[in-house]
Amino acid sequence: MSEASTLNPVALITGATSGLGKAVAERLSAEGYKVYGTGRNPGKDEALSRAGARCPHLIPLDVENQVSVDGAIDFIVKNENRLDLLVACAGMGVAGSVEDCPIEDIEAQMDVNFIGTVRTVRACLPHLRRSRGRIIIIGSLAGRIGIPFQAFYSSSKFALEGFLESLRYELRPFGVQACIVEPGDFKTGFTGSRKKSALNSAAYGAMAAKVIGKQEYDEMHGSLPTRLAEAVSALLKRRKLPLRRSVGPGFQRFAAWLKRIIPASLFEALYVIYYGMR
Ligand SMILES: NC(=O)c1ccc[n+]([C@@H]2O[C@H](COP(=O)([O-])OP(=O)(O)OC[C@H]3O[C@@H](n4cnc5c(N)ncnc54)[C@H](OP(=O)(O)O)[C@@H]3O)[C@@H](O)[C@H]2O)c1
Repeated sequence: MSEASTLNPVALITGATSGLGKAVAERLSAEGYKVYGTGRNPGKDEALSRAGARCPHLIPLDVENQVSVDGAIDFIVKNENRLDLLVACAGMGVAGSVEDCPIEDIEAQMDVNFIGTVRTVRACLPHLRRSRGRIIIIGSLAGRIGIPFQAFYSSSKFALEGFLESLRYELRPFGVQACIVEPGDFKTGFTGSRKKSALNSAAYGAMAAKVIGKQEYDEMHGSLPTRLAEAVSALLKRRKLPLRRSVGPGFQRFAAWLKRIIPASLFEALYVIYYGMR
């Protein structure tokens, strides 16, 4: 964000009706950002109204729908005459074997997590170029390490890594900075919203159920969303955003680091043991 815009910078946070996005929206609101938090159905329950009390504006935005994305951004820019920050957090998960996941679920996974983020970033860019603003994309450590029985979730997050790396070169001349934040496991509504396929399939069912069960156990015992919000807040206080920042349980961040320095075959063997896939 340009130095001229340090007073009440205007932020759009997608996926702010729950979990990590909600925590970031609350944190940045408390720090003086004018936050527009979004979800497909803001105001659908009491929890959302409570978020609304701390998050001044909660507006609808479906990342799968270009008209909805454009409408929300137009609304913000008409109200505020500027946009300084995008935190692209909207996302969901699909789990199951590669062979069993229905193609519609695979398309939806990519449409929300990857194309949905791309849609939002593209629509914000003209405004962010004007304000020399910032972009934080919420990726995942599953975008650094392929997760068994979550091939399409991992693919969507790996895609965001490549997207962000390329985007940073394009934005350099305009002074727009972008960073991908990679959460490990956090305790949010994500686990309950996950769409699971064919856990009773003859070929993969038993192993898929075991591995996904372990992954969900780790999520439910993961870090609190406020920790992610704190990390985003700390990043935004830096003069220069790094390319990526992982946040969450230490052993998961360690695994991402280990993957870079040990042979792939050894890393795979460790993962097989961790998930009991022998
Ligand atoms: N929790 C974890 O362990 C974890 C780990 C790594 C990465 N992440 C990433 O963190 C992000 C947030 O996840 P979370 O854990 O906070 O999950 P969550 O509690 O389920 O929140 C997901 C948010 O995304 C929104 N959303 C879902 N589909 C949408 C769509 N089509 N259009 C617009 N908004 C949509 C939801 O809002 P509505 O339902 O109101 O539309 C909700 O606000 C995701 O990108 C996820 O991949 C989470």
